[in-house]
This record gives sequence, structure tokens and C-alpha cells, in this order.
Amino acid sequence: MTENINIKIVDNVKDMQALSNRIKKEGRIISFVPTMGALHEGHLSLMRVAKEKGDFLVVSIFVNPTQFGPNEDFNKYTRDLKGDIEKVSEIGVDVVFFPDVNEIYPEGFETYVEVQELQKPLCGQFRPGHFKGVTTVVLKLFNIVKPDIAVFGEKDYQQLLIIKKMVRDLHLEIEIIGMPIIREEDGLALSSRNAYLSHEDRARALALSQSLREIEKRFKEGNKNTNDLVQYGIEILNKSSITDIDYLEIRNGHTLESKKEAQPGDLVAIAARIGNTRLIDNTKL
Ligand code: PAJ
Repeated sequence: MTENINIKIVDNVKDMQALSNRIKKEGRIISFVPTMGALHEGHLSLMRVAKEKGDFLVVSIFVNPTQFGPNEDFNKYTRDLKGDIEKVSEIGVDVVFFPDVNEIYPEGFETYVEVQELQKPLCGQFRPGHFKGVTTVVLKLFNIVKPDIAVFGEKDYQQLLIIKKMVRDLHLEIEIIGMPIIREEDGLALSSRNAYLSHEDRARALALSQSLREIEKRFKEGNKNTNDLVQYGIEILNKSSITDIDYLEIRNGHTLESKKEAQPGDLVAIAARIGNTRLIDNTKL
């Protein structure tokens, strides 16, 4: 255990479990925000809520290898513990859990957890194994940190639904709180991956949130046909020469079932590649 600007950093499972056991024995409520680091205002917004909801705030920083595909950005993902610690220092984080890969996946590891159906559509179609990696690491982190409350962002909307389903299905005694997407002033959703964008691609990436807004506008004007609505969104993307679109879809906001006719509460979700950078965004109608 090391101290850094008064924030305790725990790097192994045993110490984290012992600390959490002690906090729980004192009757204090543990709140938790899991992250992969490269922290930004989106992450910090979750931490502020978690701070308010609990007595002891744990943030994990772990770039989880099992949720990255073989050709994805695991190796180039930003790792900046010092910068991250500085960012969380004004939040009042009590502990940063920062384990090594071998600590979480020791040799011989072979147990995974999967949410069968919800993981199939949207990102699941394009990132095979991704959500299996997410649920497995989040369940592990829950067993290590032992939170009463965990806070996730709606930025990864499908992930949030999947975590809620896992918690329900496995009878975990953890309250899952979902928080709205934090955006730049011009609408771009904050993401650790925005740092990969060139100046030019940063400008083109705006089309993602613009396409969502266009779909919302058309929906409010009375167009309920999901094919039409999606087409309006795709036109906005194409205007910014975004053609490498994994999906732009309107689905039920709880079950993720696809729809012919849009309704309030439906999810509009998009994933597209700008240059080599894959970005996601979404909104609720
Ligand atoms: P990461 O991408 O670091 O995100 C950590 C949390 O921050 C997630 O709950 C995510 O939805 C939230 N978040 C990211 N950008 C946001 C934004 N602009 N506004 C609000 N919240 C935002 O998601 C992961 O890490 C991993 O999959 C993890 C859950 C840690 C498991 O490895």
C-alpha cells in the first residue's frame, strides 16, 4: 500500500478485501466506480455521485485485457496513473484499487460469467467476447471491493444494462446507479478514446452526437418509423464522411429488442469508426 496525495493506492486483491471487510465491519457504506483509467470529467461525474451516496469511495483503475479483441487497442490504451491520481484528488476518493493483470488473472484462470442475451446485439455483434470480459472483471471487482453501491455511465448503455442484469440474476447485494453522459460543449461525448483523434477527426466525430440529435428532432416532429429515423442519422454521418458505421439502431431501452416503430424511452445507439478510432454514443428518445 502506498500513499499518494493522501489517496491510498492498493495494488493487490488480499489487501483490498481486508480493507473492505474492515470498512464494512464499521458499518460504513462502500461506493465504487470501476474504470480503465485515462480519467476525464465523465468518470469524475460518477465519482462525485458515488462519494455522495456512500461513506467510503473506492475507484478501480484496471485496463482489462479480457474485454479487448485481438485487434483492438489494449496495448495502446492510455495508462497514466499519476495524471489519474491528480484528477481524482479533489473528489475525496478514499482508495484507488490499481492491480496488475496477473493479480486479477493469475495463471490457470478459467472462470467467466456471461449475460447471454443482452450481450448479443449492438456492440456484441462487433466485439465478440467483449461483454464476457466486462461482466467477468466487474464481478471480480465486486468480489474484491465488496461495494454496497456501484456507479456506471450511460455512455456505455449496453454495458450498464448487462451489469444490472448480472446483479439481478446472481442475487448480488449491490445497488447499481446509472448516470447520464457527460459531453463537451459542442456535444461530443467524453471518452478516453477521444485522445486518439487527430484535429480533423475530432471535428468529424461531432457528427455522432449530431446524428442522434437529428433522429430525436425527427422523432419529436412525429416520424416514428425506425428505418426512416436511422436513415436521417446516417445522412448526417455521411456528410462528415463517416461511412465505417458498426451500427446506428433504435432499440427498446430495457430489453434492447429491435423495433419497427419508435416510442419514448427507446434507445438510439451508434458505433462508428473515425479514422482508426471506434467511438460510441447514444440517447434515449
Ligand atoms: P471506462 O471506459 O474507463 O469507463 C468507466 C465508467 O465511466 C463506465 O461506467 C463508463 O460508462 C463511464 N463513462 C465513460 N465516459 C463517460 C461519459 N462521457 N459520461 C458519463 N460516464 C462515462 O467502462 C469501462 O471503463 C470498463 O468496461 C469497466 C466497467 C471499468 C470494466 O473494465
